Amino acid sequence: MHTVFTSLGKGCAVIGAQWGDEGKGKVIDLLAEHFAVIARASGGANAGHTIVVKGVKRVFHLLPSGCLHEGKPVVLGAGMVIHLPTLLEEIAALKEAGIEVVSRMTISSSAHILFDYYKEIDAVLEARRSKVKGEGIGTTKRGIGPAYMEKAARSGIRMEHLADDLRAELTTRAESVQELYGVTIDVEGELSHLREAADVLKGCIGDPPTKIRQAASVLIEGAQGTLLDIDHGTYPYVTSSATTAAGALQGLGLPPSILTSCIGVAKAYCTRVGAGAFLTEAEGETAERLRKRGGEYGATTGRPRRCGWLHVPDLQRAALLNGFTHWNITKLDVLDEEKVIHVGVGIDGAGRPIYQQLPGWRTSTQGITVFDKLPKAAQEFIRFIEEKTSIPATFIGTGPGREEMIVRE
Ligand code: IMP
Repeated sequence: MHTVFTSLGKGCAVIGAQWGDEGKGKVIDLLAEHFAVIARASGGANAGHTIVVKGVKRVFHLLPSGCLHEGKPVVLGAGMVIHLPTLLEEIAALKEAGIEVVSRMTISSSAHILFDYYKEIDAVLEARRSKVKGEGIGTTKRGIGPAYMEKAARSGIRMEHLADDLRAELTTRAESVQELYGVTIDVEGELSHLREAADVLKGCIGDPPTKIRQAASVLIEGAQGTLLDIDHGTYPYVTSSATTAAGALQGLGLPPSILTSCIGVAKAYCTRVGAGAFLTEAEGETAERLRKRGGEYGATTGRPRRCGWLHVPDLQRAALLNGFTHWNITKLDVLDEEKVIHVGVGIDGAGRPIYQQLPGWRTSTQGITVFDKLPKAAQEFIRFIEEKTSIPATFIGTGPGREEMIVRE
């Protein structure tokens, strides 16, 4: 076993350094067996991990990707907004594949319920933004913004009330929601989702801080990426939750002292879904090549992702905000055919990116598991990132498969 696994300590967070979709699932999968509990802190079904379950490709939105490790306790933290039918579907899909999750899952009683009608409000708000500003945020339309709006307004409904009779509450809401957004709440539909979910999940509602502190170790699975953080991201083109390591601790109800390591996950290039600035965005053929080689289509929405080059100032900023101790650079092999690798290293007076050009390696790195076996130019590219950020690239992804990963001591 690699000694690096033990050196990560008893509290490790895996956090996206870019705009989400960095490929966090794979390193989580690799690390899961070394930790006692796997916990997701915040966000909702806007996230999407594509995972191969017993040969079948599945996309999970709410369950931590670590839930595939049979018998491993999983936690959904207070910072999450949970769309109940989606969670039930994911539980059922796993069950079909022979993996039981309900008996080992703790859902925070303080997590918020995300109702179907929030999705419709999300769409209305996007249309309004488009009308006023000419473009929306490009949300995933999963109702995330409205769920956190209700939470911040202190009118959200939390998992602790899952089994309550919410008919009167929802009926009262229906009136104002119709008036404010022109959205009709399907009260009967929502009530039936609640009943179904209560039947399945009633035994899961609990207290993550206690559960995690009683365990020997925890792997915290970040959702989205640092640049989408509500406070520190590219506001207003962000999600509505805190996506940093600090946000994950807050979402789970854990003290900072629990973290013994924090792995920053960044693609060897960069992608973004939705609107907002993307300084090193590539155009034309280059963007298309990266998109094709990287399979850059949204796991949640299927939208083609905007593609471009790595931007070192973003990595430095993410490292500063999160206190990364290690990098996981993912999808190195996607750059295999590039003649020249562009890396954004700064911004000129006119706000344009300053690029450094590094030589490409033009040979396959797919499946390489030993750093010294990488072509020299690929090693140089990795060292360049390490030097610019002063953080070791301990994990380097070289392909989609589970084993296609370099782990350095
Ligand atoms: P929302 O989280 O659905 O409100 O979307 C807000 C912004 O965050 C949009 O640009 C989305 O594309 C982006 N976003 C939200 N979740 C993810 C994710 O898991 N990966 C990548 N982008 C995301």
